[in-house]
Amino acid sequence: MELLDALNWRYAVKQFSEDIIPDAVIANLIRATSLTPSCYGLQPYQIIQVNDRSVREKLLTHSWGQDKVVECSHLLVFTVSTAGIESIVDRYLHQQAHINDEAISELEDFRAYLIRTLGAKPNEQVIEWAHRQAYIALGNLLTSAAVSAIDTCPMEGIDAAGFDEVLGLQALDLTTSVVCTLGYRNTGDKHALKPKIRFANSDFLREV
Ligand SMILES: Cc1cc2nc3c(=O)[nH]c(=O)nc-3n(C[C@H](O)[C@H](O)[C@H](O)COP(=O)(O)O)c2cc1C
Repeated sequence: MELLDALNWRYAVKQFSEDIIPDAVIANLIRATSLTPSCYGLQPYQIIQVNDRSVREKLLTHSWGQDKVVECSHLLVFTVSTAGIESIVDRYLHQQAHINDEAISELEDFRAYLIRTLGAKPNEQVIEWAHRQAYIALGNLLTSAAVSAIDTCPMEGIDAAGFDEVLGLQALDLTTSVVCTLGYRNTGDKHALKPKIRFANSDFLREV
């Protein structure tokens, strides 16, 4: 689909059909999401794909009654690292060393620079920074899905602490950021017919 056609076609789905997105399509969307740019490339987030229906039902109790967390084809939970900047930087630098086939010891100066630059604030602010990075990835996923004719609904209407508990995220040094349900719209979902409420470019863009 052309970009603007896809962005007009997509909407925040309220009711999904029972159809399941093929594995190869999901794999491409996950890859598209992982190609999202992030601050210094550090990608301080991970996605949890929840396949188990019984786990989804537990998450429903923390989802403001939005049963699409159970009924959608794929449920992705964006999580961010709580482990601190050194852990985030080291995870990335190991990947950089691996991909570039270079010794990790050669990256010591870069490591020190990153920790000095990004670590000069309390971990709560590092986590906030990580959430902002995760939302860029979410946006990329929503657009990638739309151009692939896959329906989505991003979801902030959740209790993140409840998600953390159900998914055991504390033990993984992760915390819930935002959720994305994916699948195919139910033909009975009237929200698909609603006009887009958006500001015109003239009210949205200010030129100076
Ligand atoms: C970060 C974020 C969180 C959202 N949370 C929810 C949600 O919990 N439930 C829901 O039905 N829609 C949710 N939405 C969808 C918005 O309500 C929707 O995108 C907006 O009203 C514009 O409508 P449209 O996406 O259908 O064009 C969320 C959207 C974003 C970007």
